[in-house]
Amino acid sequence: MAEPLPICYLNGEFLPFEAARISPFDRGFLFGDGAYEVMPVYGGRPFRVAAHCARLTRSLAAIHMEDPHSAAEWRALFAELIEKNGGRDQCLYWQVTRGAERGRNHAPLPKIRRTVFLFSAPLVLPTAAVRERGIACISAADTRWARCDIKSTALLANVLLRELSVAANAAETILLRNGHLTEGSSSAVHIVKDGQLVSPEHSAEILPGTTRSVVEELATRAGVLHRASPVSEAELRAADEIWLSSAAREIVPVTTLDGAPVGSGQPGPVWRRLYAELQRYKRELAEAPW
Ligand code: PDD
Repeated sequence: MAEPLPICYLNGEFLPFEAARISPFDRGFLFGDGAYEVMPVYGGRPFRVAAHCARLTRSLAAIHMEDPHSAAEWRALFAELIEKNGGRDQCLYWQVTRGAERGRNHAPLPKIRRTVFLFSAPLVLPTAAVRERGIACISAADTRWARCDIKSTALLANVLLRELSVAANAAETILLRNGHLTEGSSSAVHIVKDGQLVSPEHSAEILPGTTRSVVEELATRAGVLHRASPVSEAELRAADEIWLSSAAREIVPVTTLDGAPVGSGQPGPVWRRLYAELQRYKRELAEAPW
């Protein structure tokens, strides 16, 4: 994400992010005990807000927390934050941690007040030049835990995996577990083979991506065949196209994997089609209420 815009929200208050303070005993700080979301905002309008709110509630339930806000309350917070930070395009981050106790205990005390934090930053999407040439990725063994379907703030393995691609001058690390594709360190991964879009099946090994669900809807609408099924390492390496999807990058074509060209080595026709559909969908939504 880019540098934050000036105003954030913390526990009931909108304030300059420099003035925001949390307890050093916050369980988010000590244990990574929390869940989060990242949502794009286009022209002041949050994109797929219901899906993001539902996923946060689901992540929190999976770690035994009730969502502290209803979807309507979240929407009011988003609207105020977006407006205070000047509208337009933003990348909105929000998280809920279990809160702060007096001291450190693995087993949380019941009924501690949750910590709720939101901020936003300018939305910096891949440029036209990046989209034209595609991005380089590397692969690595997926060393994360067994509940990657929870969007947890505990991201140490993701951080270490992303560092591998930084060291290799690549844009993302694509993860393999027991010989099959899972996802990227901070993105979903899709392949195209013989004109058909294939995404790994939903399971505890991957995050149910909000951008993925948009891509699937748009593929249906555009008559592009798509399915969810396991993708072996061999299928990944033999794919005609590989793409990443995420709220922060939309969909971006991968043109090299571990230094070898993906398909023709150029962004592929199915990616081009779906990218155009996504831009059209964003324009359609621009005037709709949210
Ligand atoms: N990450 N898988 C992982 C591990 C992710 O971290 C993300 C997104 C996705 C894609 O989900 P979505 O389409 O809903 O963004 C899949 C965000 C952008 C992040 O952590 O910054």
